[in-house]
Amino acid sequence: MSSNEKRLAGEAAIRYVEDGAIVGVGTGSTVAYFIEALAGIKHRIHGAVSSSKQSTAQLEQHGIPVLDLNATGPLSLYVDGADECDPHKRLIKGGGAALTREKIVAEASMQFVCIIDSSKRVDLLGRFPLPIEVIPMARSLVGREIVKRGGQPVWRDGVVTDNGNWVIDVHGWQITDPVTLEAELSQIPGVVTVGLFARRPADIVLIGDREM
Ligand code: 5RP
Repeated sequence: MSSNEKRLAGEAAIRYVEDGAIVGVGTGSTVAYFIEALAGIKHRIHGAVSSSKQSTAQLEQHGIPVLDLNATGPLSLYVDGADECDPHKRLIKGGGAALTREKIVAEASMQFVCIIDSSKRVDLLGRFPLPIEVIPMARSLVGREIVKRGGQPVWRDGVVTDNGNWVIDVHGWQITDPVTLEAELSQIPGVVTVGLFARRPADIVLIGDREM
């Protein structure tokens, strides 16, 4: 059921792709369906900007040109999945450890279409542990700051991000004010990226092929 909804969402996002576009592409199993669908219309697009080595490999496998964000300028469209989505289209992301590049490409894009299955829809963010990418030497420091704020930090041992950093997953938070928490955590020295996409939420959320 869940994988069928992911496939439907990935395919439905194709309707937001305009001819000649450079498409921002996220990361994950739902995005993998989007890339498969994008391959079917690759002659209509100029290329893609990728948010991870994983998505780059899949795009290149299909002969879709992967472009450098520094050379493209702003993008018209970003398509990505999420680990949780609240009624305001604010998200938790980073389950696949690609949150930093995902946040950069989302920020550079005019429209963010988020593709999810219905299990990701929540009223309050935080049941899914909040990923935070950190500079390795700051892991303990950031962990202590999280404990002070009532969270339980768990180091995603063995995972190194595409940027050479580490990920802490924070359990036990019910996130009532994600915009403030995102801003506050982002100020802690050593934090690279907080997996809250609240200041810049999604513009459109597709749950399967239905718009939320
Ligand atoms: C990767 C992400 C993904 O979008 C998120 O983990 C959802 O993945 P999936 O589509 O496999 O459920 O944020 O960093």
